[in-house]
Amino acid sequence: MSQYIIANWKANKDYHQTSLWVKGFKQQLKFRKAEQKLTSSQLQIVVAPSYPLLWPLSNALHREKLQLKLATQDFSHQPAGSFTGSVPGINLQGLAISFAIVGHSERRRFFGETDKMVAAKVKLALKAGITPIICIDQDYLESQANLIGKQFSSQCLVAYEPWTAISTATNNAQSATLKTIKPVVAKIKTIYQPKAVIYGGSVNENNVNQYLKITDGCLVGGACLSGKQFADMVANAQI
Ligand code: PGA
Repeated sequence: MSQYIIANWKANKDYHQTSLWVKGFKQQLKFRKAEQKLTSSQLQIVVAPSYPLLWPLSNALHREKLQLKLATQDFSHQPAGSFTGSVPGINLQGLAISFAIVGHSERRRFFGETDKMVAAKVKLALKAGITPIICIDQDYLESQANLIGKQFSSQCLVAYEPWTAISTATNNAQSATLKTIKPVVAKIKTIYQPKAVIYGGSVNENNVNQYLKITDGCLVGGACLSGKQFADMVANAQI
């Protein structure tokens, strides 16, 4: 079974910084003699930039011969059609997008996303052949699962992301302790029966291994913004 290290760039970076990130990542991985991690069947390294940077990122990865997977940071809850500003599955076809983060706590908090919208996103992403990474916190863990249904959630990755642990969410965010995470991971496994359960919230190159011991991977925000730092995390990860 695969483990996942997923970089969520959030609303950061421009066109130029995108290729600098790729170069920095490659150089550091080489420096750390960890290039074999890229071809390991046990590890999937995924990057989620904003929509306009998907194609420049894909090109830069191709130029540097790096086989990282691509994810979107969201997925429309509407199908193709007259939904100005929305990005449905049809817009992503042919771009080699493997995953879509859905229901991130920032989307729920700042964009008013509901469990119902997230459930619709999951179903539409799966229909488009893209694997959803469903982000959940404890207060809506069960309500969200009920709306999605096991038939669909079993085809997804589920990321447990406690809001208080997200580095940019509060001034003193603290990564969750293993003691808190373990029972939630067990609950997610029972209720969602997902392909993998991952953890997100203040993960960095120094603490990544403690989370990989009890989950199938990590979703990383702040510590992935430097290609070099993200490469250190990949190099340090004991798979
Ligand atoms: P963080 O963000 O790593 O900066 O805490 C994680 C996330 O929001 O997915």
